[in-house]
Amino acid sequence: MGMVEGKVGLVTGAGMGIGREIACLMAEEGAKVVVADFNTEAGEATVQRIREAGGEAVFVHGDVSDEAQVQATIQKALDSFGRLDIACNSAALSRGSGPIHLYERSVFDQTLEMCLTNTWLCMKYEIPAMLASGGGAIVNISSNASLRGQAFNTAYAAAKAGVNTLTQSAATEYGHQGIRINAVSPGVIRTPGVEKYFKEQPDMAKQLEKQSLMNRLGEPREIAEAVVFLLSDRASFITGQILSVDGGGSVKK
Ligand SMILES: NC(=O)c1ccc[n+]([C@@H]2O[C@H](COP(=O)([O-])OP(=O)(O)OC[C@H]3O[C@@H](n4cnc5c(N)ncnc54)[C@H](O)[C@@H]3O)[C@@H](O)[C@H]2O)c1
Repeated sequence: MGMVEGKVGLVTGAGMGIGREIACLMAEEGAKVVVADFNTEAGEATVQRIREAGGEAVFVHGDVSDEAQVQATIQKALDSFGRLDIACNSAALSRGSGPIHLYERSVFDQTLEMCLTNTWLCMKYEIPAMLASGGGAIVNISSNASLRGQAFNTAYAAAKAGVNTLTQSAATEYGHQGIRINAVSPGVIRTPGVEKYFKEQPDMAKQLEKQSLMNRLGEPREIAEAVVFLLSDRASFITGQILSVDGGGSVKK
C-alpha cells in the first residue's frame, strides 16, 4: 500500500522541478493528484507522466498569487475528486536580485506576492476543503535562504522566512482540528529554475555544490521524498516544523 493511498492531493507549481517530482511521487504512492501551474504545457506534461506510470491526475491552470484563481483551483480539485486531503504549496518565482539600494520597490512587492502571499492564499482555500474532508496535511516549500538570510536576494529570503512563520502559525491554529502543517526547506536543488542561472554563469554550479556537506547539488526527488513522508500518516505527530533537506548545508560552518 502506498504512503498516501486513497488520498486526494494538490501540488502547486507542479509543472516542473521540485513540484513535478512531488506530484509524481504522490501519485506513485497512491494519491489522486491535482497538478496546478500557470504553465499549461509543463503542467499537462506532468499529468501525462503520471498517467503513463498508471497514476491518476488532472491539470488545473492558474496563477496562485491571484485569489480568484486559487479559489477556482481548489474548486476544480473538489469537482474532480470530491475532497482534498493533502497539499504541497511549491509554486514560487523570484523576481530578481541585487543590492537593496538599487532594488525596485515593485520587484520587492512582486517577489513577496509570488513567494509568500501565494502560500497564504493557497492555505486560505485548502484549509476549509480539508476541514470538510475531516482533516489533512499541508507542506509549504521554503528555502534555506530563509534561515540565515541571503545577500542580494533579500526579498526572496524575507518572503521564505515569512513562509516559515506562516507555517508555524497555521500549524498552531489548525492542529486541534486535524490539519498538520509543515515546511520543507531545500538547499540548492538541480531544477529548471536553478539551471537557467548555470547557463549564464557556468562556474556557479561548482560553487553551489560546496554549500552541502556532500559536495553536490540535491535532486528534486530528494525533496519529494521528504514532502510525501510529511504529508503521509507516517508523520502523524509532526506539525509546525521546518525541515531542511539540503545535504547538511544548513549546519555547515
Ligand atoms: N531549486 C532550488 O534550488 C530551490 C532551493 C530552495 C527552495 N526552492 C523552492 O522550491 C520551489 C520549487 O522550485 P523549483 O526550483 O522547482 O522551481 P522551477 O522554477 O523549476 O519550477 C517552478 C514551477 O512553479 C510554477 N509557478 C511559479 N509561480 C507560479 C504561480 N504563481 N502560479 C502557478 N504556478 C507557478 C512554474 O510555472 C514552474 O512550473 C519554490 O518554492 C522554490 O522557491 C528551490
